[in-house]
Amino acid sequence: MIPLSVPRIEGNEWKYVKECLDTAWVSSAGSYVDAFEKAIAGVTGAGYAVACVNGTAALHVALRLAGVGPGDAVIVPTVTFIAPVNAVRYLGAEPVFMDCDAYYNLDAEKTAAFLDAETEMRDGFTVDRRTDRRITAMVPVHVFGNAADLRELAGLCRERNIKIVEDATESLGTRYLPGTLGGRHTGTVGEIGCLSFNGNKLITTGGGGMLLTDDAAYAERARYLTTQAKDDPVRYVHGAVGYNYRMTNVAAAIGLAQLDRLDTFCRIKRAHFEAYRDGLREVEGLSLAGPPDYASCNHWMYPLQIDAPRYGLDREGLMEALAGRGIETRPVWMLNHLQAPYIDSRSYRIERAHAMWGNTLNIPCSTGLRDDELEAVLDALRTAGRAAGGAG
Ligand SMILES: Cc1ncc(COP(=O)(O)O)c(C=O)c1O
Repeated sequence: MIPLSVPRIEGNEWKYVKECLDTAWVSSAGSYVDAFEKAIAGVTGAGYAVACVNGTAALHVALRLAGVGPGDAVIVPTVTFIAPVNAVRYLGAEPVFMDCDAYYNLDAEKTAAFLDAETEMRDGFTVDRRTDRRITAMVPVHVFGNAADLRELAGLCRERNIKIVEDATESLGTRYLPGTLGGRHTGTVGEIGCLSFNGNKLITTGGGGMLLTDDAAYAERARYLTTQAKDDPVRYVHGAVGYNYRMTNVAAAIGLAQLDRLDTFCRIKRAHFEAYRDGLREVEGLSLAGPPDYASCNHWMYPLQIDAPRYGLDREGLMEALAGRGIETRPVWMLNHLQAPYIDSRSYRIERAHAMWGNTLNIPCSTGLRDDELEAVLDALRTAGRAAGGAG
């Protein structure tokens, strides 16, 4: 079996974890958590980094810090893993779903058009005229490692008092190129950004997340809320409803070791992306979606776009054909505005997302993918369409 994405553990992970075990610092206090936070702040350029138990928890706390509360509305993309949308609901708020652009990200032009046509300022807040809900935040997701286009949206949101919480869970290593956002790492443009270190991400802690911000007050509040909001930790006095969301020292030890390899992992991801792209040049009806030209890309996933009539197989057919040859793939997540919990939620002019969902398949992208495995995937892609009667 060639898996879609598996972690690569071959650096100092064993050594650092052994130290946690030898010293019995295994829980959510310990020097590795602090060291990992500092290291992530260093890599991303964020003023502060606060380690969390996972990316979803980081998003939940980030939205709470951004002031999202019951009855509010939050702009989210329909194309994303469901976690940021669920985080909106955890706070009793409602998502407003937006279409995607050519890079699977929140469509910046349509979002601006929505703000222009469907909202107005009332008492210093942007209000959706149709629902009378305050739009307190927006969650752009940097999907598959492609930076969402925040070049205009960041200013627009500032003018309209909409806080930006970036879901950068898939984009560690992706930066805006010099220009409007001047070399900034994804997750550091909005008020708060969130990372994930789940097993399939660029680097892993087993399970983990991180909240990024330049605002000292947000960072302090995030530390407080993620550790049960203790006003007096000895006498168990709590000043707010907090969460048990702090990363463990063992997880942070793994993360710190993984982080040493981030540049290497990004380099390998890029090389595999280029090898796939070159290998598919002559295949009718298949192409690898590239990143936007205003940012670098960590190439977390390799979204393969299928022109079914030309290739001879649609996404489902290709997924099955590859599975038959031991190759694991995944389609884009089902569109969130069509998911059962959100079927009645507000959405705005969702058009392109349907086609992007229908024609895309993510192909194996582990950094440990061997040359012969990559060739086997390419060979399967070259032949599956033709075997089914396509020109491929
Ligand atoms: C876009 C996106 N947001 C949020 C998450 C949630 O992160 P975690 O699994 O660490 O909770 C993930 C992936 O897992 C993701 O891909």
